[in-house]
Amino acid sequence: MEPKKRKSLFCNCLPSVFLLSAVLFIGSAFLVTDYKERFLACHIFYNIEATKSKMCENQCRPEGSVTLPRGIVSITTDLDMRPLWGHPKKKSRSPMNLLAIAVGIKQKQNVNEMVKKFPLTNFAIMVFHYDGNVDGWKELEWSNYAIHVSAINQTKWWFAKRFLHPDVVVQYAYIFLWDEDLGVKNFNVGRYISIIKKERLQISQPAIDPEKSEVHYKFTARELNSKVHRRTINLRGPGRRCYEDSTGPPCTGFVELMAPVFSRESWRCAWHMIQNDLVHAWGLDFQLGYCAQGNRTANIGIVDSEYVVHFGLPTLGGSVSDKANSEDKGQSSLNKASPDQGQKVPSERDQSDGRNAVRKESYIELENFKNRWKKAVREDECWVDPFQQPVKHK
Ligand SMILES: *[C@@H]1O[C@H](CO)[C@@H](O)[C@H](O)[C@H]1NC(C)=O
Ligand SMILES: *[C@@H]1O[C@H](CO)[C@@H](O)[C@H](O)[C@H]1NC(C)=O
Repeated sequence: MEPKKRKSLFCNCLPSVFLLSAVLFIGSAFLVTDYKERFLACHIFYNIEATKSKMCENQCRPEGSVTLPRGIVSITTDLDMRPLWGHPKKKSRSPMNLLAIAVGIKQKQNVNEMVKKFPLTNFAIMVFHYDGNVDGWKELEWSNYAIHVSAINQTKWWFAKRFLHPDVVVQYAYIFLWDEDLGVKNFNVGRYISIIKKERLQISQPAIDPEKSEVHYKFTARELNSKVHRRTINLRGPGRRCYEDSTGPPCTGFVELMAPVFSRESWRCAWHMIQNDLVHAWGLDFQLGYCAQGNRTANIGIVDSEYVVHFGLPTLGGSVSDKANSEDKGQSSLNKASPDQGQKVPSERDQSDGRNAVRKESYIELENFKNRWKKAVREDECWVDPFQQPVKHK
């Protein structure tokens, strides 16, 4: 067998290869040389629970637990708060979900409106404070039931990478990783969840109200008289053209960074795609289709009947609304005059300096991310692009 073929075989049948290698005692070579693969192999065994091999059970323990008796090893955790004594309150029988939102005190009022839309009975609330002001939120009725994390000048993606590890949030069916500047008047989370469940959407977002928001991509703009859409047609622009048979973002299989909703499986994948150092996460949106657990056109959708307004406020130095220009030059002319422009914080000089710096940094990160992706594709002989298609329109 030529080396390349052998390598891909290894990737496809990791569990059996692992077993085999354990039996043959050459496993130790793999174990020592590649910690990551070993960890992965353990996960596979825990998940399928199908293996009956005693030898494997003994071989495969989570890192750091080999000196403990199996029954005491606790491999999962959660974000539940627990009482100091007695039993925790009975939870609702429907599965719990998570709302995680990065906030500054300036958006307190809007964030309050947002969070109030998420019932505490089936939502854990996690608030990431990027301005260090935690006390300012105390009087809000949900504040004591939320988990507050504070780190100055950190972005939503920085927080998410560090505090929403997939093993920690595994109990949540859906993860809403939202910006603080969304208008939720026309959004009902109960209906939203029942729609994405029924439509089997692994990754989704509420549609953006084009009347009241800056629209960057036609795909995510709300379509009237529609419940969900999975593709858009944009023959004349502005922005990137989308045809009936377009197969990729931003025509289909795409959500924006400001209001994504992930299933737990898709989040496990997306978390791995977030780079520790690329805190603005530009470019991630175009690649999220790889986390759609299969056909990205089928499994990613925009929910039109539950929609939000994107205020596009310049928060944390930068505004996400600058994003449009990086990917789709010209698309921003879609925006026309937005009725919400009155809500924008008047830009003082410092603020706009900060914003420019953030925007510049975001462009640099975007290039970095694209290059990293390309390099990773080049170097990974095992990886096959599930969406590779002959390019038709350019
Ligand atoms: C992906 O899903 C879309 C929409 O459901 C469908 O039209 C298309 O044929 C699917 N593609 C593949 C390769 O299965
Ligand atoms: C956080 O960012 C602001 C600019 O947006 C800056 O003025 C401030 O000094 C930063 N704080 C820290 C601790 O870095």
